[in-house]
Amino acid sequence: MISKTQSLKASKRLLSIEDCSIEDISEIFSIAKSEDFLIQNPGIFVSMFFENSTRTLLSFEKSALNCGFKVLRFEVANSSIAKEETEINTIRTINSLGAASVALRCKKSGEDLLFSKYLNPKISVLNGGDGTNEHPTQSLLDCFTLCEHFKIKFGTACLKGFKIGIMGDVMHSRVARSNIFLLSKLGAEITLISPPNFLTQNFAQYYKLKFGCKILHKLEGKFEAIMLLRVQKERIEGSGKICYPSSFGLFNEEDLNGAVLLHPGPINAGVEVSEKLAYESPFSLVSKQVENGVKVRSAVLKFLHT
Ligand code: CP
Repeated sequence: MISKTQSLKASKRLLSIEDCSIEDISEIFSIAKSEDFLIQNPGIFVSMFFENSTRTLLSFEKSALNCGFKVLRFEVANSSIAKEETEINTIRTINSLGAASVALRCKKSGEDLLFSKYLNPKISVLNGGDGTNEHPTQSLLDCFTLCEHFKIKFGTACLKGFKIGIMGDVMHSRVARSNIFLLSKLGAEITLISPPNFLTQNFAQYYKLKFGCKILHKLEGKFEAIMLLRVQKERIEGSGKICYPSSFGLFNEEDLNGAVLLHPGPINAGVEVSEKLAYESPFSLVSKQVENGVKVRSAVLKFLHT
């Protein structure tokens, strides 16, 4: 995690959810609700995704268009990285092109912070996910979606006593990390529900002590919301042999036991969730999350550029 010395607006860096104060998020959510995203002459927005993405990439680009940016997509596979140019020198090139805003997705944890240090300080930098570390705009859009669904007015302790289960591959999930920080700060009671090989004792102890999370190795009890996580095969060595127990999956509405379902996507259909539950059930907020992702990211851009 980075140590914060400047406000989000002054630093123009949204790398960790810890960069956002409650006041910042409140203003971002107000902009998201207003859907008034247009900025006067915002300049060029560049998406630089060094790891695959569908939702975050398209959502950032659509958001940039909503705000009036001209959008350039950096395509890693067609770039001079294939000619062994380093990522850092690639980043340096972006400065010379005169970008106003850059969204980064990085393979390794902390690379967003490293790369942002090489970008001109006038450029806003948004972390679209770095390794297993953080996915701050995902946690913002998840929180926005929960507040909208349950008609909760966002603010200090607005989720006090609200029971959220975060289930699945917690250990490799940047979405879990950013959400645990934000939702527990707002007072939510978070239970991590995970097979032991997806949440080792050390990790469990850390979340218990630092964020007051409860730990379950079996789904039991009632939650207002369950956030399911994908098995992050690309981050697990020998993942071909990994077996994800079906008891940690949700396949029917009854499995939700009254909770609403969130999932950041992409889903492993039939592994942690069924396609039917994720995309056809009225108890699923999965499509709403994507829709709200555009509103929230548009609002973040407007917040940083006005
Ligand atoms: N939720 C999310 O980060 O999805 P993508 O990997 O498709 O961007």
